[in-house]
Amino acid sequence: MTDRKATLSVGEQSIELPVYSGTVGPDVIDVRGLVQQGVFTYDPGFVSTAACESAITYIDGANGVLLHRGYPIEQLAEHSDYLELCYLLLNGELPSAEENKKFHETIKNHTMLHDQMRNFFHGFRRDAHPMAIMCGVVGALSAFYHDQMDLKSEEQREITAHRLIAKMPTIAAWCYKYSIGQPFVYPRNDLSYSENFLQMMFGVPCEEYKPNPVLAKAMDKIFILHADHEQNASTSTVRLAGSTGASPYACIASGIAALWGPAHGGANEAVLDMLNEIGDVDNIETYIAKAKDKDDPFRLMGFGHRVYKNFDPRAKVMAETAHEVLSELGMEDDPLLKIAQRLEKIALEDDYFIERKLYPNVDFYSGLILKAIGIPTSMFTVIFAMSRTIGWYSHWNEMVSGDYRIGRPRQLYTGSPKRDYPTK
Ligand code: CMC
Repeated sequence: MTDRKATLSVGEQSIELPVYSGTVGPDVIDVRGLVQQGVFTYDPGFVSTAACESAITYIDGANGVLLHRGYPIEQLAEHSDYLELCYLLLNGELPSAEENKKFHETIKNHTMLHDQMRNFFHGFRRDAHPMAIMCGVVGALSAFYHDQMDLKSEEQREITAHRLIAKMPTIAAWCYKYSIGQPFVYPRNDLSYSENFLQMMFGVPCEEYKPNPVLAKAMDKIFILHADHEQNASTSTVRLAGSTGASPYACIASGIAALWGPAHGGANEAVLDMLNEIGDVDNIETYIAKAKDKDDPFRLMGFGHRVYKNFDPRAKVMAETAHEVLSELGMEDDPLLKIAQRLEKIALEDDYFIERKLYPNVDFYSGLILKAIGIPTSMFTVIFAMSRTIGWYSHWNEMVSGDYRIGRPRQLYTGSPKRDYPTK
């Protein structure tokens, strides 16, 4: 792969380490040989560590670039749909028209849940958080399909992907239905993926549900924009769990658990809380001042990103979609939208935000869209998890179809050295 070397000096010792280049992005230094020299690297939070090789997603945070299999996210959001993106993430190439049609049909054949799974929902309290229900139910899929799962079989891995893509909207919508005490609505295979999700969320058995095409398109965009984001915390969790040979359904459940935390999947909910707290455009200046005040813990939610130090390319698509949805619903004068737009404008012109490269991220507008569609905040992260399942699965699949070792980080031990147990 390379004949370039990096040299590391530790005391008297000089260690040569191979340097690799990807197709784009920074070079990496292969530190695997260090263990034989009696030293480890130390990188809590994996800030400078590439934990794997991957050909799925590329992010250039400095320039606001997000590519899936090489295609920019803006182009995928404009020209593709979520299921075609699922095919691309899984297989590496866009499908032909024929392959795309077949893929859409195949997914429709897997949308129902085993009837026994209804019982799992009923085991939860009605006030359980939908993420808790989703985590449990997805983990339980492993009990339904474990006997058919040979990880080395490409065919079985493909069927597992189809099942997960198809069943996640049913599981997500049923988490909601269960929490509000309404009957579960079965999938309808005459509808598109996002239309079907909306009908399972908002339909009731006593009347026919007619999906609004503008809202269905907006949902599809939200699914596309959340489908994958490289080696983030939940994806890395799925890879680590998968490296032990665990059931892929259990691995996806571990990803859902990792996503649940407010530092990862919960920010769009926080944006909505913040806009409500600001309450009026006249209060924006006060909150901007609070965000800049080092003695005040307040931060502008939906601004800034660990990787994007330029605009988040997903945020622009979300902003456009927010306008489409709110205008369709006659909510252009929505006070929260007005606050969001004004806040964005003021922050983007402010030196504090300019100097620190703080731009709106994907979550700044997605909460507004979901709220306008009628989705409660407790479901926001569930929808993120449902969209991200294909990303998690594609990474799991990439790992298990190649050479991999069990993930086993080391540590810098700072506890007591060996001491004897007191015998009296
Ligand atoms: N409002 C005000 N100041 C901020 C903000 C903000 N939202 N974000 C960062 N800063 C300041 C921060 O105080 C620091 O200032 P200084 O250099 O004077 O100490 C500087 O900008 C750098 O901040 P940092 O915390 O070192 O940056 P980070 O890259 O570690 O943090 C972040 C990234 C996303 C945690 C942070 O920007 C943040 O808390 N944003 C609000 C929460 C949010 O919207 N999260 C969603 C992320 S997108 C979802 C996803 O992709 O998973």
